[in-house]
Amino acid sequence: MAQDHCDCPEDPPGRPTTSTGVDYEVSDRVEQLIEQHGEMLEDGMLPVKVYNDEEIFEAELRRIFGQCWVFIGHETEIPEPGDYAQRYIGKDPFIFVRDEEEEIRVLFDSCSHHGSALCRAEQGNTSHFRCPYHGWTFKNTGDLTGVPLKHQAYQGLDAEEWGLVEAPRVENYKGMVFASIAEEGPSLEEYLGDFKWYLDVHLDVGKGGMEVIGEPHRWRADSDWKSGADNFSADSYHTAYAHRSVIEVGFAADEISGTPGQETQMHVTHADSGSTSLRLLEPEDEIYFGYPEEYVDTSNLSEAQADMAAACGAATGTIFPNLSFIHLAATNDPDEDLDGFFSLRKWQPIGPGTMEFWSWVLAPADASDEYKERAYDVAVGTFSPSGNFEQDDLAVWDGIADAAGSVFAEQQGFNMNYQMGMPGMSKASIVDDFDGPGTAWDDNLEEGTCRTFHGNWHKAMSGEDVGMSYPEDHI
Ligand code: FES
Ligand code: FE
Repeated sequence: MAQDHCDCPEDPPGRPTTSTGVDYEVSDRVEQLIEQHGEMLEDGMLPVKVYNDEEIFEAELRRIFGQCWVFIGHETEIPEPGDYAQRYIGKDPFIFVRDEEEEIRVLFDSCSHHGSALCRAEQGNTSHFRCPYHGWTFKNTGDLTGVPLKHQAYQGLDAEEWGLVEAPRVENYKGMVFASIAEEGPSLEEYLGDFKWYLDVHLDVGKGGMEVIGEPHRWRADSDWKSGADNFSADSYHTAYAHRSVIEVGFAADEISGTPGQETQMHVTHADSGSTSLRLLEPEDEIYFGYPEEYVDTSNLSEAQADMAAACGAATGTIFPNLSFIHLAATNDPDEDLDGFFSLRKWQPIGPGTMEFWSWVLAPADASDEYKERAYDVAVGTFSPSGNFEQDDLAVWDGIADAAGSVFAEQQGFNMNYQMGMPGMSKASIVDDFDGPGTAWDDNLEEGTCRTFHGNWHKAMSGEDVGMSYPEDHI
């Protein structure tokens, strides 16, 4: 005979709310490899092995992506209440959503019942997420609002305790939303540190601020995530070689290519969590990354930042760990003038020696629709899966992952050279009166920017805070 009452406990156990904060132990081999990485970096070298190693990758997921601030998306991607998109921190799935009260949230994409993923579309608009497994339903705030057969099956369940879990820290810097899955750590502003000065030049140069156009492009490559972060951090030394053909046919100007011997002043600089290369013309040239003057507004920039924006035809940079950018005056048609676009790019770790590119195209929010379309086309023609610059890079980065995973490299202890710009190596010298923070050089024949990225990698993998002060003996 059916029971007409619930014999479940009067007071069912609640949901634990504290994180366990488990420290991740690594093998002696990996600990030694991290230590060796730090020692070698002081001499301007790197063990190639770290670019393709299963245990290093697992440690990166925990010690880097489990701790640092990671870029999630730009607020203009989800302008309306209910707008959402799938995003990842390390390999972990999250929902980037603007809730009904317009608050931006980063919700772990895992149902609080048995863990199934809720989000079945890459992006869209919804007031609720319904789990496809047993039908639990959550508001876009993450609150649990529906449990099928609740009165028969889950009478004592406290719905308030069983909402979706949020990333513990989410912050927005001028439209760029970052999250950290670590409960504690520096604020985003502290983490970005002095690099904010350079980031502001990019985020505040466009009239109305910067706006994302379309969906991010995504594609996979047999390259490690660090290859992209290293390259944009910024290895402008490669531009004149890997991208020579693109410049020769006229898709970008020689004077902003970084080719040695050009009149352009090249500065590479780094500060705290990031590093950047800047190709500067004379300020009176007023190139503003290729934007037409009517779409430029420097009123939120300092005079020095505004001068830099006026002079800059191209800039790349990386914010540790896996967000990079390129701000570029280019064209997809040699018969047309150069036009500007801004690309944010995320090097999404997939596995050791494998990553997914994510690339967002941005333009000044107050630009005309026609200009935004043009900026998007230029970005597609240069930095996208079909972009001419992009394919040059793809053609060279996978070789690094192949070498890193090879038995021969392991047996030989094969190392990479990052000594350019160290004493006795190049003519690059420090600009004492450079207006921006950090350390700036007068030439791109300098790999301190890449060493900054790898120095931050070493710090994070050793459990230290990210943020580089450049070693005196490297100057
Ligand atoms: Fe989501 Fe059961 S796993 S409702
Ligand atoms: Fe490149």
